[in-house]
Amino acid sequence: MPDQNHPPRNRVTLAPAKPLPHARTPLGDPAWRYVGAPDLEHLGAADWAILERQRGLVYRGRAARDALALLEMQKDDPSYGYHTNMYRHGLEAATRAWRAGADEEFIVVCLLHDIGYAIANPTHGEFAAALLRPYISEAHTWMLRQHQIFQKFHCHDLPGNDRMAREQFRGHPAFELTAHFVAHYDQNATDAGYETLPIQAFVPLVHRLFERTPRP
Ligand SMILES: [Fe+2]
Ligand SMILES: [Fe+2]
Repeated sequence: MPDQNHPPRNRVTLAPAKPLPHARTPLGDPAWRYVGAPDLEHLGAADWAILERQRGLVYRGRAARDALALLEMQKDDPSYGYHTNMYRHGLEAATRAWRAGADEEFIVVCLLHDIGYAIANPTHGEFAAALLRPYISEAHTWMLRQHQIFQKFHCHDLPGNDRMAREQFRGHPAFELTAHFVAHYDQNATDAGYETLPIQAFVPLVHRLFERTPRP
């Protein structure tokens, strides 16, 4: 029990706020069930069964929709210097992959590889890898995670850049794949004159990917 007379020194002071009126969903569905306790320690088997069943109903299709929404939020973002913004960069990468006859998984990986660029800039490769890992191959996951390091190879006059940083991974099973991805679908996908397919072309692919049985 916390000592009321000696609160922790680092306690954060929060402005008073009204509690949320309801935290229940979907509203108005008489068949919807709620668990019998407000904490995990007191949930019984019937409670866990409710959660297991309704989790699937609530979140079905949600990951694909939310990922696409995050991408579309960036549609009108300004470029910070490139001739195209990150939204178009993703579309260009995916379109190039599609025109090259790549498989569906690779196309979606291209589309979403920089989806976290704005909100997780220094770690956006890990962000995309974490998002997609349950649904894609280990090679594609590794490629997403490391693509930032492989990109350095193409930056010839960037001050302080170690172009050969990727060499630490030479011999890895996904080394050549990642080098190929960055060379042909990433470092060159900043061309405002490139005719990309619209996002609608890729929506079914994104949904199909997220509908795969997630691997642990
Ligand atoms: Fe990137
Ligand atoms: Fe990129």
